[in-house]
Amino acid sequence: MSAPLHVFAWHRQSAHAAMLADVCRGLRRQPKKQSSKYFYDALGSELFERICEQPEYYLTRAELELMHAHVADMATVLGPDALLVEYGSGSAIKTRLLLGHLHRPVAYVPVEVSPAALADSLARLAPAFPRIEMLPLCADFTTEIRLPVPARRERRTIVYFPGSTLGNFDTPEAVQLLQRMRAQIGADGAALIGIDLKKDRVEIEAAYNDAAGVTAEFTLNMLARFNRELGADFDLAQFRHRARYNVLAGRIETHIVSCRAQEVNIGDARFAFAADEAMLVEYSCKYSPEEFARLAARAGLHVERAWTDARARFSVQCLRAS
Ligand code: AVJ
Repeated sequence: MSAPLHVFAWHRQSAHAAMLADVCRGLRRQPKKQSSKYFYDALGSELFERICEQPEYYLTRAELELMHAHVADMATVLGPDALLVEYGSGSAIKTRLLLGHLHRPVAYVPVEVSPAALADSLARLAPAFPRIEMLPLCADFTTEIRLPVPARRERRTIVYFPGSTLGNFDTPEAVQLLQRMRAQIGADGAALIGIDLKKDRVEIEAAYNDAAGVTAEFTLNMLARFNRELGADFDLAQFRHRARYNVLAGRIETHIVSCRAQEVNIGDARFAFAADEAMLVEYSCKYSPEEFARLAARAGLHVERAWTDARARFSVQCLRAS
C-alpha cells in the first residue's frame, strides 16, 4: 500500500515549513541553539560516515569491536522471535551483525525521518536477510510512533539504539526517549543501547576535533544546509567549529562560533551575531556505567547486562522494564 504522490508533496512542504520556523526560533533564542538533527542531510550523513573513519574518532571502531566480540552473547540474552526496532538506520554493519545472530527474528523495523536513508539501509539489509520481514517506518523516533504489525507474531520487541546517539539528547530529553522505549518494549522486550564512556578529556576532545578537519566541515555543513534548503545567506568563511569537553557536565559541547559581528538573512528575517558569539549545535554526553544506570532508572528501566570493548571506551547496555 503506497500513499498517493500529493501526500508526499504535502509532507515535504510541511516538513520544510516546520524546519524554517524551528531554525528561526533557534536563532532568536539567547543563547542561540539548533537541534543536532539538522546535521543529517545527504551531505551531512556522508560527512558523518567520514568522521567514523578518522583515526581520532574511536567510538565507531570501539563499538564495532565490542559487537564482534559479544553479539552471540547479546542474542542469547535478548531471546528468540524478536521484532527488532532500530532508532535511526545509519548503522548497517552493526545491524547486520545483530540480525545475523538473533534467534529467528520476526521482522526488522528501521525508524528514520529521511526517506533516502531508509531506502538505503533497506537496500543493503534486505538482500542479506531474505527470510526476515522488512518493515521500514518513516518517522521521527523522538515522537510517539506506532509500530507496524509483522506477518508472524513476535514474542518480544527489542529497540536497538546504537552509536551513542542517546548522548546527543540532554537529560530530560534522554529520560523521555527512554520512557518511550520502555512503553514499546513492554514486559518481555529489551532496549540495546550504545553509550560512549567517560575517559581522558584529551582523547574525547581529539575525537571531535580531528586533524583532517572533517568534523569541522560536518558542523559547518549545518549552515550550508540552511543556505540550500531555507535560502539563508550564512557566509561559511565567517563561522568556525568549536568542540570542548565540559568535564562537570560530562559532555562534548559543540558550538558554531561567529568569527566577527555579522548579520544573516533567512527570507525576510534578519539575525545578528556578535563577534565570538557561539550557537550550541550538539551535546555528546559521556557516561559512567553508574550514571547510565541512574538515567535508565528514571525511565523505569534497569540494566540487565552490559558489554564493553577491551579498552573500556564504549559500552552496549541491555535494559529491561523494572
Ligand atoms: C551521532 C552520536 C554518533 O555525538 O559522537 C560525531 C555525532 N558529532 N562527531 C557523536 C558526531 C560529531 C555522533 N553520534
